[in-house]
Order: sequence, then structure tokens, then C-alpha cells
Amino acid sequence: MEKILVIGACGQIGVELTLALRKKYGNENVLATDIKEEHPLLLGTGPFAILDAMDAEAVRALVKAPTPSGVGVPTESVGKKITTIYLLAALLSATGEKNPKLAWELNMGSLRQILDLSVDEKIKLFWPSSIAVFGVTAPRENTPQKTIIEPTTMYGITKYTGELLCQYYNRRFGLDVRSVRYPGLISWKSEPGGGTTDYAVEIYYEALKQGKYTCFLSENTYLPMMYMDDAIRATIEIMEVPVEKVQSRMAYNLSAMSFSPREIAEEIKKHIPSFEINYMPDLRQKIADSWPKSIDDSAARADWGWKPEFNLEKMTAEMLKNLKDKLK
Ligand code: SER
Repeated sequence: MEKILVIGACGQIGVELTLALRKKYGNENVLATDIKEEHPLLLGTGPFAILDAMDAEAVRALVKAPTPSGVGVPTESVGKKITTIYLLAALLSATGEKNPKLAWELNMGSLRQILDLSVDEKIKLFWPSSIAVFGVTAPRENTPQKTIIEPTTMYGITKYTGELLCQYYNRRFGLDVRSVRYPGLISWKSEPGGGTTDYAVEIYYEALKQGKYTCFLSENTYLPMMYMDDAIRATIEIMEVPVEKVQSRMAYNLSAMSFSPREIAEEIKKHIPSFEINYMPDLRQKIADSWPKSIDDSAARADWGWKPEFNLEKMTAEMLKNLKDKLK
């Protein structure tokens, strides 16, 4: 039986991943943790504990005896050690540029010690990477899996360093660590925080609330994007495929769609004809300009059968329908 620990469970990916894992593996077998208080959507769905991803002793203690206090955990799962970790705690690109020191300390510090712990305790590990590993020297269109990789943000530097560490721990210690390079992720259940691609979530909220949106990126800034449902499915799929299918222990490129602020606004206008968009690029424009416009994910498709289900049209219809209900 799998016993899963999610670190960073209250973030944009963590909330939906925790809910999906609980559905699949049983509520009591997925321990959600975060440094912040429990997300409202997780309340009552399974065990939760406060955890600082940089506190090596606390993480180790929880892995060995995953019984958070104050939560009703069924007796059969008490005392069973953690078998799989999803390490999602991180500072993203925009926040990372405001505080590069903390970005390095959190993103690298947590990964380093959880890699060691995973070797010691024979744990299977998921750790996410990002399109932010690529810098201006990589081809911007259909960016290949393997190419020149020179990230220019601290976030990208931590992600690329992390990928190399994951590959090293796999080769040197046989650790089963798996990773994907997420594009910008778009979700309605949980909120993004501190990323350059966050505009593509904000725009839907503002379209419904105000009928207009001022975008912090310029109108023709193309970036690779993905609907959260696809991202969660990709994450669980790569963790479940037989080990021999995981040919790369660097993170896999993942792709679903690519659009600009102008294109997403046009798509929203099909549903809300009076919607207006303005552009006021800020510091995040420079970050976006260093990233790919679109991604070649043929390795993920060939190795473990990755295939996205949502394009801009389908995602926009889903986002507006779900957010309309949420904002009632
Ligand atoms: N969505 C992330 C960001 O914008 C990219 O990984 O920082």
C-alpha cells in the first residue's frame, strides 16, 4: 500500500494533487503538509500537518511516523512509513527575483535533504521542474528536451540545478526520482502565487468580476501553458509508469498549448463580448522574454505516453463555467 507525503500541499498544484491522490489511494494514505495553514478545500478530506520543508528533522520524523496530531487517522495506517513524497514547496520566478537568496535556500535546501532522506528510507520522489530552466540561448519555438540550458532567473537556476541533482541521485544511489518541466499552470480551485504565468489565471477572475483586466505582460508574449487537470494527470502518470519507461532522470518537457495575452483575451471575448484588456508590462516581462514560446514534448509522449486533453478553447470554457459558480 502506498503511503504518500505531499509537501507544499496548500499551493496551486498541491491542493489539486492532494485531492486527486486521495481519490486514488484513499484519503488516509495521503498526508498533506504545508508551512501555511490548511487550504479550505483540503479541510476534512484527510490528514494534515504543518511542516517546514527546510526542517530536515521534522520531515524525517514525519516520514518515519506519519501521524499528525489532532487528526483522525485510521488505525491500519498509523505507524506505516511514507513510501512516496511529492515535494512541491518552492518560491516561483517572480518572488524568486525579489528574494533570490531565499529562492536558493528553500528550493535547493529542501530538495537536497529530501533526496538524502529518500535514499535512506527508500522513498520514491516527485519533484517538479519548469520551463524556467530555459534561457535566451535556447531555441524559443518548440524548445527541445535537450538543448543549451542557461537559465537567467534564480528560480530557473534552482530548477536546473535540481534536475542535475535528481539525475545524480538516480545514477549514484539508484533513487527513483521523477520530474516534469511544467509550463504555466491554469487552475480555478487553487490560487497561483509569485509566478510570471499567473496572469493567465488572474485574467479569468477579473473578466468575471470586473469585465476588464490590466495584464502585466505585453500583448504578444507567447508562453507555454497547461490546464491544471492535464498537469495533475501528467504528474500521477509519470509516477505510476513502470520504471523502465522513465528514460530521463532530468525533467521531461511537457506541452499542452501556447498563447499570448491577446489570444486568451480573444477567447474570453467569445464568452464575454464586452471584456476589455489593457497592457502594462512590469518586471515580469523580462522573465517571460527569457522563456520558451512553445515546447517540444516528444520525449514524454514517446517514453511514457503523455498526451494533453485541454487546448485554449476547452480550458477557457471550463475556467469560466467553474469560476462563475465559485464566485457566486
Ligand atoms: N509558473 C511558473 C512561474 O511563472 C513557471 O514555472 O514562475
